[in-house]
Amino acid sequence: MSDNKVLKIKDITVEFDGFCALNKVNVNVERNTIHFFIGPNGAGKTTLLDIICAKTKPTSGACFFFRKTGGEVKLTGMREYKIVGEGIGRKFQVPSVFVNLTVMENMMLSLKGNKGVLESILYRMTAEEEKSINKILETVDLLDQKNEKAGSLAHGQKQWLEIAMQLVQKPEIIMLDEPAAGMGKPETFKTGEILKKIKRDCTVIVVEHDMDFVKQIADRVTVLHEGKVLVEGSCLEVLADETVQAVYLGRGGERNAEN
Ligand SMILES: Nc1ncnc2c1ncn2[C@@H]1O[C@H](COP(=O)(O)OP(=O)(O)O)[C@@H](O)[C@H]1O
Ligand SMILES: [Mg+2]
Repeated sequence: MSDNKVLKIKDITVEFDGFCALNKVNVNVERNTIHFFIGPNGAGKTTLLDIICAKTKPTSGACFFFRKTGGEVKLTGMREYKIVGEGIGRKFQVPSVFVNLTVMENMMLSLKGNKGVLESILYRMTAEEEKSINKILETVDLLDQKNEKAGSLAHGQKQWLEIAMQLVQKPEIIMLDEPAAGMGKPETFKTGEILKKIKRDCTVIVVEHDMDFVKQIADRVTVLHEGKVLVEGSCLEVLADETVQAVYLGRGGERNAEN
């Protein structure tokens, strides 16, 4: 790995009432890559995302962010909104778009951040802001739908709108927890192609179970199992690993195992 780290997860341990959800986890994430965290249910994937964005406080260890412009930021101990301000966005599994607002109005809400809904949608964008938003909508293939109500979009399009809303503030890292959940194969594939475009400007951290999706776009894969890093490597290395086969892939991945 070249040394172009954007994130360093160092010795992270998380205990919930004596139960160890993460156990001395060490991972580096490289800038402008798509980095997957995979593993069986309960492996600690969501907890790890919660640690990075400081929603959860670790029992020990710390996460560090390296700005593109230089400078190291210790994320652990910071307020959540300050981490967003540093350029680290997080998309949760449940879509949280405003269904009664148009695609464009939803984007304007992200632009104005903490302002009220009315103030945000009445705001007159600068030409530059509008150009930037149009470019993002083009990336997620929603430019033609920009005046449609978000509620009328298909499930996949709503997910893409949410990703687009994350990009408005030009983050350095976006984190997606199961972005392809509930999507069919064509939509999942298209999500992958969208994320490949996004990684040119941004690092993408993804938790997902669909192994075809992982194969399609992963630059790096960390397999978590019972709160520990089981294996880390390229997609091919991880797929070929015997322990990964035994604890995870042999069961066809979590989603298949559950269905
Ligand atoms: N707030 C919490 N309190 C207690 N236990 C939790 C909490 N959050 C997660 N856990 C436990 O930690 C483990 C890891 O959970 P999670 O990170 O959600 O796993 P994954 O996303 O890999 O399925 C699970 O056993 C889960 O029950
Ligand atoms: Mg989870």
